[in-house]
Amino acid sequence: MKSPLKNQWILITGASSGFGAAAARAFAAQGAKLLLGARRLERLKKVTKAAKKAGAPVAYFHELDVSQTASVETFMAWAKQKLKTQPLHVLINTAGGAHGVETVAEGKDADWEMMMQTNVLGVLRVTRAALPLLPHDAGATIINIGSLAGRAAYSGASAYCAAKAGELQITRVLRHELFGTGIRVSTVDPGLAETEFALVRFKGDRQKAKDLYAGTNPLVAADIAEILVWVASRPPHVNIDEMLIKPVDQADMGKVFKRPLK
Ligand SMILES: NC(=O)c1ccc[n+]([C@@H]2O[C@H](COP(=O)([O-])OP(=O)(O)OC[C@H]3O[C@@H](n4cnc5c(N)ncnc54)[C@H](OP(=O)(O)O)[C@@H]3O)[C@@H](O)[C@H]2O)c1
Repeated sequence: MKSPLKNQWILITGASSGFGAAAARAFAAQGAKLLLGARRLERLKKVTKAAKKAGAPVAYFHELDVSQTASVETFMAWAKQKLKTQPLHVLINTAGGAHGVETVAEGKDADWEMMMQTNVLGVLRVTRAALPLLPHDAGATIINIGSLAGRAAYSGASAYCAAKAGELQITRVLRHELFGTGIRVSTVDPGLAETEFALVRFKGDRQKAKDLYAGTNPLVAADIAEILVWVASRPPHVNIDEMLIKPVDQADMGKVFKRPLK
């Protein structure tokens, strides 16, 4: 059966690693055309090459820093050029992440600001710039990547929990604002997943990042990518509003089953 995503344009932010890179491959395998953005160009180049190999008829990348309005505007002008007169079918806002594990008492302004800049303001900026490219009544979809952290509180994550709760509310607000346009809006909210997320959060400390996943079976990026493809390929009248996906080993935030290490 022909995929409804075949030859459709998909724009992914945060495509240089983790969920975004896996989504690029998964949408490519459906025959979709890709526009990819992130800050690390070498990584984007590799993801683009892999996407073409996986079946994307075309795949392009461009530098994007979602924490900077000017960068988002330059990126979207580039995307518009690539689209020519064709519509954008799916926007996936995955750029973001957590920085640091300090309590509020010990928190660092730079970490807090970065988490708000990417997970909250980045989603707003990119969505504002992409909206004119999304057609009405044609099954176009905006998918934001939220988190279990937007729904559950835990120590050392005040700004990240706040940022992802912000993302959840932005998604809900967009459902209201886009009411009647036929543009779909979803949030896909993962729990513990093994990507570069922990490495970024622990500021490059590989051992700490490794320890987080030791003895447990976390989600992997491909699990989420598969779900993103599913959400975007529902019939045009179906909106998957909110999805929370956790590994079986995670009952809640901070309640992760760990097997003894061999
Ligand atoms: N892994 C988890 O456990 C988990 C769980 C729930 C939700 N999430 C969320 O899932 C999303 C993707 O994270 P991931 O797990 O795939 O981690 P990841 O492997 O670290 O990927 C994060 C992506 O975001 C991009 N990014 C970060 N800051 C950016 C900026 N200022 N401008 C543009 N791109 C930026 C990174 O690209 P560059 O560094 O190249 O710019 C990278 O492509 C994030 O929003 C994260 O909060 C992750």
